[in-house]
Amino acid sequence: MKTKTLDLDFVRRQFPAFSEPSLKGTAFFENAGGSYMCCQVMDQLDRYLRQTKVQPFHPYPQAQEAGAHMQSAYGKFSGWLNVGSEEIYFGPSTSQNTYVLAQAMLGWLKEGDEIIVTNQDHEANSGVFRRLAQQGIVVKEWGVDANSGSLNVDHLPALFNKHTKLLVFPHCSNILGEINPVAHIADLARDKGIKTLVDGVSYAGHGLPDVDALGVDIYLFSLYKVYGTHQGVMVVRQQMDACLSNQGHYFNDHLRAKRLTPAGPDHAQIAAAAGVCDYLTTLYQHHVGSSKARDQNKNKVVHDLLRQAEIDVLEPLLEFFNEHQKITLIGPKHAVNRAPTVSVLVKGHKAFDLANALGQKGLMCGAGHFYSKRLLEAMGIDAEEGVLRFSLVHYTSAQDVTKLTQTLKALIA
Ligand SMILES: Cc1ncc(COP(=O)(O)O)c(C=O)c1O
Repeated sequence: MKTKTLDLDFVRRQFPAFSEPSLKGTAFFENAGGSYMCCQVMDQLDRYLRQTKVQPFHPYPQAQEAGAHMQSAYGKFSGWLNVGSEEIYFGPSTSQNTYVLAQAMLGWLKEGDEIIVTNQDHEANSGVFRRLAQQGIVVKEWGVDANSGSLNVDHLPALFNKHTKLLVFPHCSNILGEINPVAHIADLARDKGIKTLVDGVSYAGHGLPDVDALGVDIYLFSLYKVYGTHQGVMVVRQQMDACLSNQGHYFNDHLRAKRLTPAGPDHAQIAAAAGVCDYLTTLYQHHVGSSKARDQNKNKVVHDLLRQAEIDVLEPLLEFFNEHQKITLIGPKHAVNRAPTVSVLVKGHKAFDLANALGQKGLMCGAGHFYSKRLLEAMGIDAEEGVLRFSLVHYTSAQDVTKLTQTLKALIA
């Protein structure tokens, strides 16, 4: 049956975790930490490891096949992200990727040049760039509003000057769930000749973005939060790549895919990454019934499908949090411009104790600062105590949310 709303049974059949006996009766609310893996990724990982676990790209047929599986991942992501396949890099994680990027920028940034970072970011997209101050780069902070945690775009132009070279910011905070207006911010920066680097880790699991339309120079996300394995994806647009110095072996300087991945490629995981795109294509085909639409259109259709499914489960959760006397919701109160990553403080209860109590009842959620320590500190929240976080994705069911709200209500009554 073809339908315009997300077919949750179909979706859940793509994730082995939902038929795993040991997980029966549980509900998973820690997707921002790492999502369940779809069968398309598992199958391709398994196939690579069984059939082509050889050095790819060598002359013998198995090596050629291994290489072709890897190439296929670049090609498929190129379509889904609307960028060139040569603009895509796979690294061990986003933290490792930002580390390498910060080093690679040292050939481009000169003493006295300025960069802007935020205190809304996960530390992976902050510390490595702040450390450039040790090399004479001037680091300015685009600070959040202390009450809302939001980044006010109106404050940005005052931070720009003729020395500003780079603006680093998140697409979506992993605490607030607030979605920043990336395309608008990138426009403002581009007008002044400033490059942009965006952490999309907390966004990409909710639908892969059209990176070209966002207009950013670098876009990062982590595949283990997008139904895949533990890999970081970096999109480095061509105009930005030219600014970055080779971080790989000197004799590979001319090989684009190797310049920013000194750890070397994890062949099997790169090949398996194609499974993420295959999963999204499967969703498209199931709901729309055609495999002929252009990739760009596919992306929007699937993105909207996931978004609507998420809003449907997010709204009742936000309503419960907004109305409960003991609960303070952190971040936007309504689903508009918000990913379903929802953090709260509960009066009279420690976040870790509640996460533990919920976990005992099969409701898996997290507590802590989630490496966004600077954000919690800026908002006057004790970062060591942290927040209680529930992160949903499109496979979260309304029943999961009802079970969560009823259980939490009883626990804090
Ligand atoms: C928003 C955000 N950015 C960056 C990272 C770092 O990603 P990785 O674990 O791939 O290094 C995380 C990880 O939790 C994150 O949530």
